[in-house]
Amino acid sequence: MTIPSQTLHIDLGTRSYPIVIGTGLLGDPQTYNGLPAASAALIVTNTTVAPLYAQTLQTALQGRFKAVHTVVLPDGEEYKTWQTLNLIFDALLERECDRKTVLFALGGGVVGDMTGFAAASYMRGVPFVQVPTTLLSQVDSSVGGKTGINHPLGKNMVGAFYQPLLVVCDLDTLRTLPPREVSAGLAEIIKYGPIADLAFFDWIQTHIDALRACETPALMHAVRRSCEIKAWVVAQDEREQGLRAILNFGHTFGHAIEAGMGYGQWLHGEAVGCGMVMAANLSHQLGLLDAAFVQRLTDLIAKAGLPVRGPQLPSSAASGSGGNAEAYLALMRHDKKSQAGEIRFVLLDGPGRATVRAAPDELVCAVIDACSA
Ligand code: NAD
Ligand code: GLY
Repeated sequence: MTIPSQTLHIDLGTRSYPIVIGTGLLGDPQTYNGLPAASAALIVTNTTVAPLYAQTLQTALQGRFKAVHTVVLPDGEEYKTWQTLNLIFDALLERECDRKTVLFALGGGVVGDMTGFAAASYMRGVPFVQVPTTLLSQVDSSVGGKTGINHPLGKNMVGAFYQPLLVVCDLDTLRTLPPREVSAGLAEIIKYGPIADLAFFDWIQTHIDALRACETPALMHAVRRSCEIKAWVVAQDEREQGLRAILNFGHTFGHAIEAGMGYGQWLHGEAVGCGMVMAANLSHQLGLLDAAFVQRLTDLIAKAGLPVRGPQLPSSAASGSGGNAEAYLALMRHDKKSQAGEIRFVLLDGPGRATVRAAPDELVCAVIDACSA
């Protein structure tokens, strides 16, 4: 189904850029018209996405750049590492790419985060374009300029804020996405409701089946509204000095699940979905949120095809002794929002309102125990 594309703008002064959302965008040379002149482009992608979409992008870019190179990375969260990042630098240096070279991140959030970090650091900064091909990356990771890699001790611990020149969300690419990845993307869409927009939350509830079926009109609305909310937050707080932290609702628990289970075992969106259930329950225990909304959120997350009960983390995930909840706590102390060892959670101060605050360890442990399998 072809629908007219829509363009949003993320307002960051000289670093502002458009987010184009639509169908048939990837292979259309006009999509890339606004980019600066450069002799070379490097498409960064992975072993799954390359056979599906790299040639289409390569052909679309050929009229603009004298040389269009491609580097294909291994696929998976477990490869979001220094070693994989270095493959991008190897490709840039081996092909003698200069500092005007434009990098294209073609893939999901893993490719996008690594390509952005490579762009931030190659020759101290080269331009890059996000071409997200997962639902999660279209509604979240490609927008806002957070880039980076994982460390065995913590998720996304090494990176940079570095904005792209352009984000191209071609909804057609989502047709090849496995259902489990669609559900993972829905977690980040659902996130925007409780923290910022209850009307959107209602809409997601009504359209959850259409979204799971990847119906284009539903995707269009969900991607556009998600990007609008994200752009609104990022424009006010690009480097997460305050407000932007609300976009991490569910992520403190979620990152502990990802790191604790071993990167790649739980998908990022699955861990965030489950993390939102834990964060909502913690909000309730602190007297901030009524039980009915906790149940409503939990039901929607389950309807999106996501797990709502956390895993038992392997004992090796806990530094020191202790049970499952202590393993979560140990990992969560590495969270980037922690201050002087105190974990700070994004909680709901009523439906539609987020707040960031600490909570007593005993209460956090009780919530983890109550919300774990
Ligand atoms: P991903 O990049 O691992 O992609 C998921 C899987 O789908 C991969 O196997 C990928 O190869 C495959 N794939 C991608 N496009 C496809 C397509 N069109 N058809 C078929 N298969 C396709 O995971 P993700 O969910 O896109 O992103 C998760 C990552 O994003 C995490 O590392 C997370 O930390 C990061 N993230 C970053 C931000 C940010 O602000 N920078 C925000 C949210 C998440
Ligand atoms: N995904 C959280 C953020 O971009 O801030």
